Amino acid sequence: MTGRAPIGKHMRTGLLRAGQRVQLTDYKGRKSTITLAEGGEWHTHRGVLHHDQLISQPEGIVVENSAGYRYQVLRPLLNDYVLSMPRGATVVYPKDSAQIVQVADIFPGAHVLEAGVGSGALSISLLRATGDAGSLHSYELREEFGDIARSNVEAFFGEPHPGWQIFIGDAGEKPLEIEQPGGVDRVVLDMLAPWNCLNAVRTVLAPGGVWVSYVATVTQLSRLTEEIRRSGGFTEPEAHETMLRTWHLDGLAVRPDHRMVAHTGFLLSTRRLADNQLPLELKKREKVSEPAAADVQAWAGTSEEQTWDEETLQTRVVSKKKARKAAASSLQHAEAAKEVVNDQ
Ligand SMILES: C[S@@+](CC[C@H](N)C(=O)[O-])C[C@H]1O[C@@H](n2cnc3c(N)ncnc32)[C@H](O)[C@@H]1O
Repeated sequence: MTGRAPIGKHMRTGLLRAGQRVQLTDYKGRKSTITLAEGGEWHTHRGVLHHDQLISQPEGIVVENSAGYRYQVLRPLLNDYVLSMPRGATVVYPKDSAQIVQVADIFPGAHVLEAGVGSGALSISLLRATGDAGSLHSYELREEFGDIARSNVEAFFGEPHPGWQIFIGDAGEKPLEIEQPGGVDRVVLDMLAPWNCLNAVRTVLAPGGVWVSYVATVTQLSRLTEEIRRSGGFTEPEAHETMLRTWHLDGLAVRPDHRMVAHTGFLLSTRRLADNQLPLELKKREKVSEPAAADVQAWAGTSEEQTWDEETLQTRVVSKKKARKAAASSLQHAEAAKEVVNDQ
């Protein structure tokens, strides 16, 4: 085979190199992630580990630090990486990213629209699925989040991804300036008020295209569902959530772990109908009783006075200071990753 290796492959295979991130697991199963540097040292209260002990070694070695403590050395997988990378906004958990890629039917070569970009966790999964021949346009309101995401994605792939662009602006409006009408294959939204993007999504999404929204609360899920139904241009929305329960495996004590992440978010998916077509489900629904507008308003909070912000939805508000700190840290990782020699 000739030509360039797929983007990011040099960060994930072969001997360990300076600039790459590695995960060290100690005898208690505790994990720490470091970025390898020639002559670098990793200090803990249990001694010093020299980075040169790891550089040019294969993944999976077990090394000893100056005090004889042993560590298992592996490159972080995508799942580990997104949970350890610097973040401003809350990231989409790997269990949900995996579902999004599947439910949204993200395929190699697809043109995908995403908003907001946050810390770039979901962007990495989408870019992996669209591949080098695809394209991802990520829309984000806050410039500093765009910076964090850009560095996190570059640190993961070891270089800027050729198929990725970030646009700073409101996802409800900006895509109308950037995208061709009907030119987007898939839309994935992870933002507070995705219903504000209805018009933009209807305009840019190709007939048959899939739109998946990730929302944290039932009230958002309900409002988005009703607005999609009301708009009439989409198939009947479908919702689900994914619960992941890990297991304790120790001799005869094989059972579910006591603790789990009980809630992250819901996925709502729908598909764009061709122009001037009515959804079949909507016709069927007209025969059964429609909820009264006042009930919908009370439940979904669609009244004008209702505020949909981080505070009312009780999601984490990220200060400018914290975002700046995360941006500086992710940039440092991205700079180190660019130095990794790509000999593939
Ligand atoms: C939870 S974060 C996204 C996290 C991201 N999916 C990840 O996995 O790292 C939500 C993001 O949506 C952005 N956002 C909210 N409203 C937006 C809008 N109207 N247009 C563009 N971005 C928006 C926020 O600034 C925030 O960065």
